[in-house]
Amino acid sequence: MAEPIPLPKKELSSKLVQEIAKNSNEIPEQYLHKNGFPQAIDAPDLWKDALLIDFSLLSSSSTELAKLRSALSEWGCFQVINHGMESSFLGEMIEVSKQFFELPLEEKLKCSAANDIFQGYGSDAIYAGNQTINWNDRLFVTLYPEEKRQLKFWPTKPEKFRGMIQEYSMKLTNMLEPLYKAMARSLNLEEDCFLKHQGKNGLITGRFSLYPRCPCPERVLGVKPHSDGATLAFLLPENGVQGLEVLKDDVWHKVPVIPGALFVNFGDLGEVMTNGVFKSVMHRVVTNDAKDRISVAAFCTPEDSKIIGPVSELIGDHKPQLFKRFDIHEFRRMFFENYAKGRRTIEALKL
Ligand code: OGA
Ligand code: NI
Repeated sequence: MAEPIPLPKKELSSKLVQEIAKNSNEIPEQYLHKNGFPQAIDAPDLWKDALLIDFSLLSSSSTELAKLRSALSEWGCFQVINHGMESSFLGEMIEVSKQFFELPLEEKLKCSAANDIFQGYGSDAIYAGNQTINWNDRLFVTLYPEEKRQLKFWPTKPEKFRGMIQEYSMKLTNMLEPLYKAMARSLNLEEDCFLKHQGKNGLITGRFSLYPRCPCPERVLGVKPHSDGATLAFLLPENGVQGLEVLKDDVWHKVPVIPGALFVNFGDLGEVMTNGVFKSVMHRVVTNDAKDRISVAAFCTPEDSKIIGPVSELIGDHKPQLFKRFDIHEFRRMFFENYAKGRRTIEALKL
């Protein structure tokens, strides 16, 4: 890749939501959903039972596997507890992320790249196209595999940040293999079925997001409705600040924050891989006028060398192949092209 060129400060800072929010109470037009959007319902009990997975039981309990299967096939998401990461560690991840966004603009701009939309500090405005822009700033960094990391985008401040990111990546990576195996077993497939399509060195991209408090939450979205361009994604939200919502049967549902839990969702590549058996969930982030919100997302994709498509085990006489085969580079291009037009890539991948 060519050497990254940091965006000129003036150009980027005019697009940074943190700067916009700091300098004025007016929300620029491009961030306003003029006709608003449908409200979400609250169904807290769902997230205490059907959509709550105990990671430590996945290797031994058929009840837990059945829950995993129905969560992924009906919703495309769940929250996971007992995953081996301490609540205090997760709290610290959020804390160092918050400290990063609190740094002076000059310091943060050291991690920006004008010519790479997949890396560094910046704003979603660059791939918004003509769409309403998301009310957040973010830092994208490659977490895994190690040889793909571009440390020039890894902040050197706060001092603990790099060590924390490193530890978080390692812990997430350790969750992947058991999770892919459990998914396969939940469908009565050979347990390496998804793992071998995914490969062990698939890219994991981290996205640290700041959603500044917003004076007009009924017209502004932190992230517009979308599904992720990943096999699956992990989301660590900040305790005490709700924002994430998921769509099921045309109804938006609030996702409560459960301290110590991670939110896991399937993305477009996961839906393709399972030939539509597991769903890539549509989700969005709403804003609020009381508090900034931080989240840390990690997107897992297959190894670069893999041809992505439905696994043969899920294609048969009564189960026609629903999606094309393609490579990851083709997919990435398609994803951002479609995102900028407000379309889901999964639609373009259907046969
Ligand atoms: C995303 C996303 C949710 C959140 O970055 O794709 O859906 O709560 N984030 O930050
Ligand atoms: Ni998302």
